[in-house]
Amino acid sequence: MSKKPDALGIDIGGSGIKGAPVDLDKGSFTDDRLRIATPEESTPEALCDVVAQIADHFAVKKDLPLGITIPAVVMHGVVQTAANIDKSWIGVDADQLFSDRLGREVHLVNDADAAGVAERYYGAAKGEKGTVVLTTLGTGIGTALIVDGRLVPNTELGHIEVNGHDAETRAAESVRERDDLTVEQWAERLQAYYSRLEALLWPDLFVVGGGVSKQADTFLPLLDLRTPIVPAKLKNKAGIIGAARLAAKGS
Ligand code: BGC
Repeated sequence: MSKKPDALGIDIGGSGIKGAPVDLDKGSFTDDRLRIATPEESTPEALCDVVAQIADHFAVKKDLPLGITIPAVVMHGVVQTAANIDKSWIGVDADQLFSDRLGREVHLVNDADAAGVAERYYGAAKGEKGTVVLTTLGTGIGTALIVDGRLVPNTELGHIEVNGHDAETRAAESVRERDDLTVEQWAERLQAYYSRLEALLWPDLFVVGGGVSKQADTFLPLLDLRTPIVPAKLKNKAGIIGAARLAAKGS
């Protein structure tokens, strides 16, 4: 493939943990991605083993920046929440845990923040001024808030209250699947969610990421919003590319 990588990215998701070396000029992989199924028990030790396997698989220098996503709030390397991962993650200094296990420095980031940064530099929000809100619709709802090109980390806007419910428990993709909602029924819930977000933030652009971005044409046309809303472009590469970018460049 192309030139030598600038960083390695690993994306911890609900069903798979995926990694690849990244070319940060192009925002693309320099080698094939490796995916390993997420262990049923998503404890720090179990996930750390898989991350180590993926990092070791690529023959890259030990000092190559390594970014890792996690579906949780991460402040200065410490995991603060665990909505959809094992609760034992809360309070874990994950930067330390992973660095010790892997024998190299790592940089842990929230999964939606990573996706947002990737879309901001290489995808649907490239060159966008103003306020961009990226939402990932998956097991939960993740968000990245980007203001004039700068990420405001750890926004947890998937958990805002909409009609008396934590938004992600009504509008995440996993809920659509679980409750076998028709696209119209799901769109109604998305309408309520995005209307609330736009009333609170007045964004210039919404970007919709997560696996569902592939079928965006089935539900985006059903939404009636003031804010333009577009599908993410980097699909399931966004987490890896954004994590690599944040580890190498910090933004
Ligand atoms: C978590 C977020 C995460 C999102 C997507 C939410 O439940 O609280 O931190 O970004 O799921 O994985």
